[in-house]
Amino acid sequence: GDRPQEAMRSAHEIAASTYHHVLMLTEQGSSGRQYIKERGFSREQLEHFQIGFAPDRWDALTTILTKKAFDLKMMASASLLGERESGGQFYDRFRNRVMFPIWDGQGNVIAFGGRTITDEKPKYLNSSESPIFQKGKTLYGLHLARPSIRKQGSIVLFEGYVDVIAAWGAGIANGVATLGTSLTEEQAKLIRRNAESVLLCYDSDKAGTEAAFKNANLLQQEGCIVKIAQMPEGNDPDDYIRQFGAERFKNDVIGSSLTLMAFKMQFLRKGKNLNDESERMQYIESVLAEMSSLTRAVERDHYLRQIAEEFSLSLDALKQEQNQLYRAKE
Ligand code: CTP
Ligand code: MN
Ligand code: MN
Ligand code: MN
Ligand code: MN
Repeated sequence: GDRPQEAMRSAHEIAASTYHHVLMLTEQGSSGRQYIKERGFSREQLEHFQIGFAPDRWDALTTILTKKAFDLKMMASASLLGERESGGQFYDRFRNRVMFPIWDGQGNVIAFGGRTITDEKPKYLNSSESPIFQKGKTLYGLHLARPSIRKQGSIVLFEGYVDVIAAWGAGIANGVATLGTSLTEEQAKLIRRNAESVLLCYDSDKAGTEAAFKNANLLQQEGCIVKIAQMPEGNDPDDYIRQFGAERFKNDVIGSSLTLMAFKMQFLRKGKNLNDESERMQYIESVLAEMSSLTRAVERDHYLRQIAEEFSLSLDALKQEQNQLYRAKE
């Protein structure tokens, strides 16, 4: 193999077990343990996801890597250390943060996400891209989730690591996360290679909803069958599980997810008074327009019937309306 990359991976492995040890067993980890306790993570979650803590020091990891004779400049290029402007002087890049190891598909640690335990910015400090870490090719937790993904034939996609960890605690073990809301084509292809069905479980806020639309379309283009989970406004999966518990998360969120079209319909009717005729017509027209993205006739038929039934309209009238709409668009 490639020597520098091997050294980088090996240093990440050492860093991960050091941070984990600090969190679990040392005095320097006590503020991290306090934070973890407040967030409600169990010992099993800490172990399964090898969560750790980077002490509030400039030289903890630097000293260890120096003793083990790692090339510190190389470690800085792998984003574990920082190098002072003057050059040749190195320091710990992650300090006073709860550390989430990020693995490649084989389970090698290749990066970290470090969450502040204070209100320091950024909330999450992530490893920069390096020869061993390309953010757009990585899915957090994939190697851990793989057995469950195989068994279920589906993946649950989250936007945050803590959501994957909270869901695992609630019994949902086929969860993975992008590192934020953006999904690359490569990640979409990687998801498709692992499962046909994908459930998007994003934060119920503006960014999460927009990302759900966008990423659902991308995943659909890659051949996935996409569903979207719903939660009360303002919640994210971790909040929801803490507030309402595992059973409700499994039944009301994971179990009651919507198809992309049903999700769009729900979105389009938000804030509309459907008892008002003109608002109702507006809604119906926008739904009919959205339906043009459905490739399968049976799916179109299903939603047309649903609308016909809800608003006591004839199926023929709806089909005519839809044909006119499509013709007008051409
Ligand atoms: N993220 C990041 N940098 C930030 C904010 C977010 O890299 N400054 C990424 C992290 O991977 C994070 C994900 O985007 O897990 C989702 O962001 P957000 O919803 O803000 O964070 P949560 O996962 O909800 O984290 P927490 O519950 O700890 O606030
Ligand atoms: Mn351990
Ligand atoms: Mn978010
Ligand atoms: Mn969130
Ligand atoms: Mn959160």
